[in-house]
Amino acid sequence: MDKKATLTLNDGRSFEFPMLGGSVGPEVVDIRSLYGKAGVFTYDPGFMSTASCNSTITYIDGDAGVLLYRGYPIEQLAVHCDFLEVCYLLLNGELPNAAQKQGFVATVTRHTMVHDQLNRFFTGFRRDAHPMATMVGVVGALSAFYHDSLDINDAEHRQVAAFRLIAKLPTIVAMAYKYSIGQPFVYPRNELSYTGNFMRMMFAVPAEDYKVNEVLVRALDRIFILHADHEQNASTSTVRLSGSSGANPFACIAAGIACLWGPAHGGANEACLQMLEQIGDASKVGDFIKRAKDKNSGVRLMGFGHRVYKNYDPRAKLMRETCHEVLNELGLHDDRLFKLAIALEKIALEDDYFVSRKLYPNVDFYSGIVQRALGIPTSMFTCIFSLARTVGWIAQWQEMIADPEYKIGRPRQLYRGATRRDVKPMAQR
Ligand code: SDX
Repeated sequence: MDKKATLTLNDGRSFEFPMLGGSVGPEVVDIRSLYGKAGVFTYDPGFMSTASCNSTITYIDGDAGVLLYRGYPIEQLAVHCDFLEVCYLLLNGELPNAAQKQGFVATVTRHTMVHDQLNRFFTGFRRDAHPMATMVGVVGALSAFYHDSLDINDAEHRQVAAFRLIAKLPTIVAMAYKYSIGQPFVYPRNELSYTGNFMRMMFAVPAEDYKVNEVLVRALDRIFILHADHEQNASTSTVRLSGSSGANPFACIAAGIACLWGPAHGGANEACLQMLEQIGDASKVGDFIKRAKDKNSGVRLMGFGHRVYKNYDPRAKLMRETCHEVLNELGLHDDRLFKLAIALEKIALEDDYFVSRKLYPNVDFYSGIVQRALGIPTSMFTCIFSLARTVGWIAQWQEMIADPEYKIGRPRQLYRGATRRDVKPMAQR
């Protein structure tokens, strides 16, 4: 028997709505006909109880601290796969076999260069511009170069745009970094792995050979995997909403980058490292925690808390392990900030304020420390996040376009402004 939900208003009217079930997770009440039937809207700012779409890509169980990409636990993907395998999985729904992986890697590899005129966009920015400002500008500008992959109704165009974005984001992120430090851009090298290529473009200089450290490459590749997708978070919802108007994929991804920049979202990794630097040492943790608990302080424990996870973010655990590996590889096992973060986490997780609100470390708590150890400056952390999240944004954007139910997103509102009134002549105002 089909499940139904009944809404009864206090004026006695009653309406039935179908309940829809997924393969796992909460059922939904399909309220699409609510306004037509009852003349009322639902009200859910922040979308605390709203499913904006149906999806088959990523599933999060916030209470259990579970994250699945196409059904595979993030813990297994982070150990058994590399980032391009995970890209293939997110885009196609299945992990690639050896031949499929080889073809996918070959295609991505041959899209890593950018149009050489794109270099000129960087010179328009101040060298000390925040790299995320550069990223929003340059990625949006890709629409001005790749006219042969802008038609969102053409599956071939969508696929080419997907390959171009996955392949070119590392090149653009590295260019944003090189520009900010006044070093020349480093071109991609096709014989290197995706992440090895990125590290060379970030850290090589023309004056000497660059040797890729495979342990550090593996660590960064895993960081990309941990950031690849996360269901309908703020930036993914931004990409979907932008895409719902028919905007081209490059513009949609630029919108996602802009949203990710916020410190409550992807910008938290940069804010978390700045927080650790401000705290300075473990003796000041108590005072900081006190301020983070005080609503009037305006201070938050960055890298802690999550809208969905009310348990430990599984990505934070994996990030902490990766942090440990990288610091050991670099002989930094007594890194000051890592030890401070461990102390801060321990104290917070024993404090009722955080425990009662189910606030745990999220993906951003350790990611800054490990990126800093890899030589990536704080201002670049969210650029790295956008590099990795691009595949998730694209997979979600493609899924939306292929969904027969998709329509332009156009929320309504609860209006509490002035009702109709007439303009008075100037002399009477
Ligand atoms: C990401 O959505 C995603 O999936 C995002 C992401 C992804 O992969 O796409 O996972 C990536 O954005 C991770 C989150 C990174 N942001 C931070 O680390 C910033 C610090 N955290 C928060 O500001 C906050 O926890 C949010 C924004 C992450 C979640 O905010 P919510 O769900 O709106 O929760 P809330 O602000 O209503 O907080 C509930 C309570 C409040 O206290 P009370 O009003 O109940 O007394 O917890 C408190 C908040 O004041 N609180 C915190 C806190 N986070 C929440 N108090 C101190 N420090 C914090 N970090």
